[in-house]
Amino acid sequence: MNDIQRVAVLGAGTMGHGIAQVCAAAGLSVRVFDLDDAALERGQRGVLGSLERVVKKGGLSGADAAAVAGRIAWSTALAPSVVDADLVVEAVPEKIELKKELFRQVDAAAPAHCLFGSNTSSLSITELAAAVRDPGRLLGLHFFNPVPVMELLEIVRGVRTSEASLAAAEAFARAIGKTAIVVRDYPGFATSRLGVVIGAEAIRMLEAGVASAEDIDRAMVLGYKHPVGPLKLTDLVGLDVRLAILEHLHKEVGEQFRPPALLRQMVRAGKLGKKSGEGFYLWPSEVKQ
Ligand code: 3HC
Repeated sequence: MNDIQRVAVLGAGTMGHGIAQVCAAAGLSVRVFDLDDAALERGQRGVLGSLERVVKKGGLSGADAAAVAGRIAWSTALAPSVVDADLVVEAVPEKIELKKELFRQVDAAAPAHCLFGSNTSSLSITELAAAVRDPGRLLGLHFFNPVPVMELLEIVRGVRTSEASLAAAEAFARAIGKTAIVVRDYPGFATSRLGVVIGAEAIRMLEAGVASAEDIDRAMVLGYKHPVGPLKLTDLVGLDVRLAILEHLHKEVGEQFRPPALLRQMVRAGKLGKKSGEGFYLWPSEVKQ
């Protein structure tokens, strides 16, 4: 079985840098690739900010946090980032052609034993696997935001994912301290499919004037003990991300996933949630300078 010691993460965004951090915290050696220098810098700042939080809470000493940060290398060059990787985790935007092209390039540069994981929230793992020479080595490794905090790793088994790859992914989940569930490759898997239903219904309720955004969120926080209400969570995940998931599920599964008009309108207006400074709530301090 592939003993994972070296991990390459593709994409330095919210998910990518979080994945890099948890791998480095587990003692693995990590390289993060992103085409964009500014994204790499933001990712690096994200890791340092998160580690600082852990240190303040007494979860790590300053020296240990520095060692974690020191195990992550950041680069805009793809081939050197994956050349000695035991595992590549792709966390780039949810565009299937982009992901397939990236996997083709990674396949040409990575070692023959390398396991390929995609952090996609809903796209077909089986289709992504068709982009690499050995589809048995590709599976879904779906993490949750904020990655250092959320316990779940949803492992998605494509039609051709091998038993050995599945076992390696389960061992990887244990090594980084996550609890894994294994799901079949079906649009939206187990998590996104349920998550977007609540989010989309909350948006439709807001459209229909059932209650204010704050009260719809309060309903689920106080009435159902969700840690965060569905509209605030949509702001945290990104309205564009949720819209992309809904569009995909609408196409693949059916009418119940039709995206609400308000969500589409807000995305067109650039109201993407926390990352853009405005979604269902205002996030003034989050606007990037
Ligand atoms: N890095 C490190 N630690 C962090 C952190 C971060 N980015 N964010 C929070 N923490 C830690 C805090 O330090 C604190 O630690 P402690 O328990 O040791 O004191 C703990 O997490 C709780 O944080 P807070 O007390 O500051 O804040 P909250 O009580 O609001 O909890 C939360 C934070 C657990 C993230 C909570 O807001 C939550 O559960 N949010 C919902 C998250 C969620 O649903 N994520 C899934 C999104 S869907 C997804 O990601 C899938 C994708 O495909 C779209």
